[in-house]
Amino acid sequence: MKYDFTTIMDRSGMDAIAVDKIPYENVQVEEGFSTIPMWVADMNFQTVPTIPEAMIERTKHAAYGYFEPRKEYYDAIINWHQTRNGVTGLTEEAIGYENGVLGGLVSAMNVLCSKGDKILVHAPTYIGFTHSMENNGYHLIHSDLKQDEAGIWRMDYEDMEKKIKEEHIHAAILCSPHNPCGRVWEHWELEKAMELYQKYDVYIVSDEIWSDLTLTGYRHIPTQMISEDARIRTVALYAPSKTFNLAGW
Ligand SMILES: Cc1ncc(COP(=O)(O)O)c(C=O)c1O
Repeated sequence: MKYDFTTIMDRSGMDAIAVDKIPYENVQVEEGFSTIPMWVADMNFQTVPTIPEAMIERTKHAAYGYFEPRKEYYDAIINWHQTRNGVTGLTEEAIGYENGVLGGLVSAMNVLCSKGDKILVHAPTYIGFTHSMENNGYHLIHSDLKQDEAGIWRMDYEDMEKKIKEEHIHAAILCSPHNPCGRVWEHWELEKAMELYQKYDVYIVSDEIWSDLTLTGYRHIPTQMISEDARIRTVALYAPSKTFNLAGW
């Protein structure tokens, strides 16, 4: 398999938010300067060739009607989580399909919450959480991450507990690894958070979309692996969109 990480692709005219849409009006780019698309997280190199090959092969059968994922789909997910994250006991019944992680977040919160409920989230917060939750009638309560003596961003458990109690919180979003601060949470950090959520019966939607993209030396720990209670308290969201750069697809 040959990967191409060096060719600079011209993405202009392909409807890419990263190059064709600056999210602020009337921005003038001075001559000699170019824009750096820090408003969207996709990549400027090609995806692995086997993916377009499989897409092209499938599209040759020109019927694109309603579908039901087949057994291989579930097996691929189960194997992926087993080999990469050491997850055991994952079953087909525990896996659902959604068109995107934010759609999955909304679906999960619509089950766990009533409209108007408050949802705990760490700040800084990925803007997709803010928009999708507020547009669906939920209110976000922010608990600021705090830098420790070494400058590492940590959860502020005291603040989380205070807000869970005061704001009557029963659902939270956990972003793991965390966007935008880039932390791959350590085991003890997740354990402490899940203990708190268990204590106050808070359900968790754990967005693990970034979990395949960790730097050497770091290991992603799925939230559901923290304890037996975490396993039943967590809806975990994963996607191939970051891992293989397929968001637009
Ligand atoms: C933390 C996080 N969750 C979700 C998404 C978007 O996921 P999707 O396009 O599958 O809805 C992003 C995209 O940047 C993200 O950073």
